[in-house]
Order: sequence, then structure tokens, then C-alpha cells
Amino acid sequence: MKDFLSLTKARKTTYEFDNRQVSDAALGKILDAGRWAPSCGNSQSWHFIVIEDKKKIKKLTMTANYGDFHTDAPLMVALVLIKKLCPGRGFSCFKGHDSFVHDSYMCIGMAALNMLLEARDLNIDSCLLTPHQNKVKSILKIKKEDVVPLLIGFGYQKKGVFQKKRDRNGLKDVVSYELFGRRK
Ligand SMILES: Cc1cc2nc3c(=O)[nH]c(=O)nc-3n(C[C@H](O)[C@H](O)[C@H](O)COP(=O)(O)O)c2cc1C
Repeated sequence: MKDFLSLTKARKTTYEFDNRQVSDAALGKILDAGRWAPSCGNSQSWHFIVIEDKKKIKKLTMTANYGDFHTDAPLMVALVLIKKLCPGRGFSCFKGHDSFVHDSYMCIGMAALNMLLEARDLNIDSCLLTPHQNKVKSILKIKKEDVVPLLIGFGYQKKGVFQKKRDRNGLKDVVSYELFGRRK
């Protein structure tokens, strides 16, 4: 990969995987990238569950709140948010500094993106799934107080599959200067 911006643009959601397995070495790097993500107060309020069992991956894929997956990923990582590591009220980070923003959820997003980009750098494809909480917690035996905001599937995209059109709003549509809505 030439540069970091190209890497971020090359990462995409994959809906159809072939049966090539992700190596243990690559998985190790992906998990390490997740571990090195920033988190509020360095709380590291995450736990990563690696799932390789095909039947379990199928069940987990079916917990997605939405999705258009044609095949299951050969490897899945569940990102668990551990309540006792989020000292604030709800899922906020700091005790006594209640925030309307559940910042611990953002930390999970940071870990997820680190994993996705590490995978892309290793030429490994990925998909993100938002699981139904009761279902995913029952499958993975997660404690009542913890949550699983995201599942990530990893593998290699099948050759020649249909590719959804991918685009983004233009920079001019999403960026203002000094005040909301002020153009340069
Ligand atoms: C937090 C989050 C949750 C997502 N959950 C799902 C999901 O449950 N099912 C799904 O098909 N895609 C899911 N996606 C993937 C998005 O639909 C996808 O990222 C978006 O369409 C942009 O496409 P791209 O990833 O190819 O750039 C999720 C993405 C994010 C960031």
C-alpha cells in the first residue's frame, strides 16, 4: 500500500468471502492493532473474542441487525465492552464527569478501525456487523452488564463478486470553517 490515505480508501465491507483462512500470524497483528487503539483515560475497556468455529460464525452473522452477507467470514472477532472498566455512569469513561456521550462505545470503534486497517494492510478483507444484543450475548456467554457493540468478520473476498457502489459525501459537504456551515 502506497500511503495511509490509500489504505483507508481501500478498506471496504466485504459481503462474500472465499474459503481461504486468515493465518494466526495475521490474526495476531490484527488483535495487536486493536489493543493499541486509544481509549478514554486509557481505560482499554474492551475484550476481544476470536471465533473460528464455522457454526458459531454462522449463528453470529445471523444476529446482525441488517446486512447483505452472501457467505460467512472464515474468522470473526467480537468486540466486548466491559462495564466494570467504564467507571462513569452508563458507559461513560470518568466517574463524576457524566457525559451525554457514551465515550466507551467510541473506544470500541477506535479498536475496530485499527483492526480493519491492519487487516487491509495485510490484504485481508473484512466486514462489520452490529449484533442483536440478547442473541449475541447468549451465543458468546457474555455477562449481563457487558455489551457487544460490534462483530468483525475477516477473510478474503471471493474473486469476481458483485461490488456495491461505494462513495462518500464531498469534503465541501461535510467540512465548515470556524462556524458550522461557514465555507472558506
Ligand atoms: C458501527 C458500524 C456498524 C455496522 N454494522 C453493519 C451491519 O450490521 N451490517 C452490515 O451489513 N454492515 C454494517 N456496517 C457496514 C456499513 O454498512 C458500511 O461500512 C458502509 O455501508 C460503508 O461501506 P464500506 O464499509 O464498504 O466503506 C457497519 C458499519 C459501522 C461503522
